[in-house]
Formats: sequence, structure tokens, C-alpha cells
Amino acid sequence: MPRSDVVLSIEGLSISADVRGETVWPVTDVHVSVRAGEVVGLVGESGSGKSLTALSVPRLLPENVRIIDGLITVAGKDMSLLTDSELSRVRGGIVGMVFQDSLASLNPTKTVGQQVAEVVRLHDAVSRTQAEAKAVDVLADVGLPQPRERFRSYPHQLSGGMRQRVAIAMAIACEPQLVIADEPTTALDVTVQAQILALLRRLVDDRGMGVLLITHDLGVVANVADRTTVMYGGRTVEDCTVIDAFEAMRHPYTEALVASAPRLSGLDSAGDGIPGAPPNPAHPEPGCPFEPRCSHAQSDCVVAPPPYITANNGHRFACFHPLLAHEVSRG
Ligand SMILES: Nc1ncnc2c1ncn2[C@@H]1O[C@H](COP(=O)(O)OP(=O)(O)O)[C@@H](O)[C@H]1O
Ligand code: SF4
Ligand SMILES: [Mg+2]
Repeated sequence: MPRSDVVLSIEGLSISADVRGETVWPVTDVHVSVRAGEVVGLVGESGSGKSLTALSVPRLLPENVRIIDGLITVAGKDMSLLTDSELSRVRGGIVGMVFQDSLASLNPTKTVGQQVAEVVRLHDAVSRTQAEAKAVDVLADVGLPQPRERFRSYPHQLSGGMRQRVAIAMAIACEPQLVIADEPTTALDVTVQAQILALLRRLVDDRGMGVLLITHDLGVVANVADRTTVMYGGRTVEDCTVIDAFEAMRHPYTEALVASAPRLSGLDSAGDGIPGAPPNPAHPEPGCPFEPRCSHAQSDCVVAPPPYITANNGHRFACFHPLLAHEVSRG
């Protein structure tokens, strides 16, 4: 695919944070790319650095956190070169964000219609009436029933699923090229979760935007994503099609993640999680961060972190001793 199709590119991202005067390294080598019309699932255990990676794109990181290295481009624009006012036009403009907690991301004192219309007016030179008309259209597009009436509802008057539809409406109101959705369905029950994922998929197919869908749940990825990027201990360790992630993974961590996913492996023992603990970002070890938990580790794995390489078919992984197709455990 031509490079112009890449709506998000993150190469070699490294992030540090100051914690009570000490420097910690929650993200050390992250590579992500999302093309137009594609849903990429960014997966990994809690604490692997998914949210900090997401927040680094529109530069919404907490005050004690800094980007140390790496190149982030959105639709070919280097995010580090933008001024503050250019960045605020990017947020909600070419990049839409959706978070887990829609109640926290919506303003309780304004109607949901007003909030969508405000996003439209912030980015498009339109009158209030035009912005309100567009807001009704977008609310209809995200499947809010009776959008004209719901326009006047306050967030607390809507169910969690409906609020998440409103949050998605705000993210897509200005026709972004990229939407970053951080655990957008984690707070919802399974039926509503499936509806919201189907909505995201339809919006991608209809509008051709790219979506980075962050989740700790491989079931979400299996349902909706085209490609998977797996993170471990602040690094991307594998990037491949969803089918390869489940059936031809090369990285032992992806294998462990799939084997421990309760709804996917069908094993009684599944769901207990991967034995051992993730690395401590305050004390990075010199070798492969997965080594203490890896059943395939060899003596060279403790010397240096494995480089992130690309195989012939575009499948990327960081492991000195990658699994071969016939070795992949089927749970
Ligand atoms: N503001 C912060 N200051 C210091 N450490 C942080 C901060 N935010 C997150 N972290 C740490 O960075 C790591 C990655 O966090 P996060 O990106 O939220 O992970 P994930 O979204 O994958 O669960 C975790 O160890 C977390 O505790
Ligand atoms: S580099 Fe070694 S320790 Fe790390 S995942 Fe590969 S085999 Fe396991
Ligand atoms: Mg997170």
C-alpha cells in the first residue's frame, strides 16, 4: 500500500516519567502503524504502556511524563513540530479520541447535542445552526435512537452504551483520519460491547478512517481488528494480521497471551493469566523483558533486548528465538 495510506506511524517511541524525583521508563521502544480503513488492536497486559502510547500521539501526556525519543506522524505530519494551537486543531480534528469512561469525558452540565456541536464549531467554520444540524446527523450515524430528542439529553440521562455512542460521535464529528479508542468497551456489558465494536467497524468501513483500538482483551481484537500490535513491558513485541496473532504468532508472549485468554482458548485453566509479573519500569533489565516469564528463553536472552525485525510477509516481532509455525501451541 502507498505510504500516504498510513494515517498513524509511531517509530521507536520512548517515554520517561518522574516519580518522586526518580526517573522511570514506562515506554522504551514502541512501533505502531495504522492505515486508512484499518482497525489495529493494540493489546497487552495492564501496565504495558498502551495508554501512555495513545496519549503521546495528540500530546496529552500527564505533566510528569515526557517523550524522550521516537517519531510520531499523523497523516504524514510530524507531531513534534506542531505548535500548541496546531495541536489543539489536531485534537478532535484529524485525530479523534475515545476513552473508557464516557461519563468522565463528557461535560455533565451540557446536553450531549451541544457537546457534539461544540466540537464541530471548534474545527469547522460553520454557524451554530449548521453545527447543530451536523451534530444531529452524527448522533444518528452512531446509532443514537431519536437523535433530535436525544440532542437535548444530559449525559447522566443516557445509559453507558448510549454515552459511549455520544463519545464516538464527538470523536468522529469532524471526519478525522485517525481515531484512537482506549478501552472503549471495557466498562460495558458484553451485549453493548459487541454493539459498540460493530459500530466502530461500520464507521471505519463507511468513512475509511484508521482506528487504533486499545484493549487488554484479545476477544475484542478477534471480533473487530484487521491487525494486532502486541505490547509487553513498554515495547512492541509483535505486529501481524489478527489471524497470524492467533494461529501463527512468532513471539512467546503472544502465545502466552492467547493461551491465557479465557474466551478464546476454551481451556479450563485459561483465565488464570500468565505466571509471573511484568517488568518494573523503574528497574529495566538489560535483556529481553519477557525472559523471566518465557518458557522458550535461552542464555543469550538476558544479554540485550531483541531487535524488532520484519519477516518477509511484513510480520514484525522482537524475539531471539521466535516460534516456528509448527511449534505454536494451540492452548
Ligand atoms: N503519570 C504517570 N507517572 C508515572 N508512571 C506512570 C504514569 N502513568 C502511567 N504510568 C506507569 O506507566 C506504565 C504504563 O502505563 P499505561 O500506559 O497506563 O499502561 P496500560 O494502558 O497498558 O495499562 C505503568 O507501569 C504505569 O503505572
Ligand atoms: S528473546 Fe528469549 S526470552 Fe525473549 S521472548 Fe524471545 S525466547 Fe523469550
Ligand atoms: Mg490503559
